[in-house]
Amino acid sequence: MSQNERTFIAVKPDGVQRGLVPEILSRFWNKGYKLVAIKLTLANEDLLREHYADLTSKPFFPSLLSYMLSGPVLATVWEGKDVVKQGRVLLGATNPLASAPGTIRGDFAVDMGRNIIHGSDSVESAEKEIGLWFKKEELVDYKPTLTSWI
Ligand code: TYD
Repeated sequence: MSQNERTFIAVKPDGVQRGLVPEILSRFWNKGYKLVAIKLTLANEDLLREHYADLTSKPFFPSLLSYMLSGPVLATVWEGKDVVKQGRVLLGATNPLASAPGTIRGDFAVDMGRNIIHGSDSVESAEKEIGLWFKKEELVDYKPTLTSWI
């Protein structure tokens, strides 16, 4: 497990619209992860078809697409120990009704089609998703004060 592992986390349009951005950012920050990229952006269909390439034939894909196009998305990249798996733990299950209280989806959502946040499900998908949503120069290299925790 790498200290420099990275994951792609996106606050979906409903999460942005509902003002959940500060709450979501603080959960990753407070856990001890380092923010390496962040931008508020409007997705487009081509990007989403690549991002969700394994889901394009699913019956729910058209509604997923219009949901993800309904407003701005906050795209972020976080770095740290085991961040891909731990990020998914912070998110909760895909279906918010199956997500434990204390998780982001468990605390703030009830609908699978409005589950407020995306997180990469493997190191390989994280690499792919980071490359899709960010240019290399948007990933910022710095030493956070976090590294000087006693
Ligand atoms: P998926 O990648 O399976 O889940 P996750 O986001 O937890 O990695 O699915 C992508 C999104 O598609 C999911 O966040 C919500 C939506 N979705 C539905 O609307 N209905 C479904 O039955 C599934 C499986 C997903």
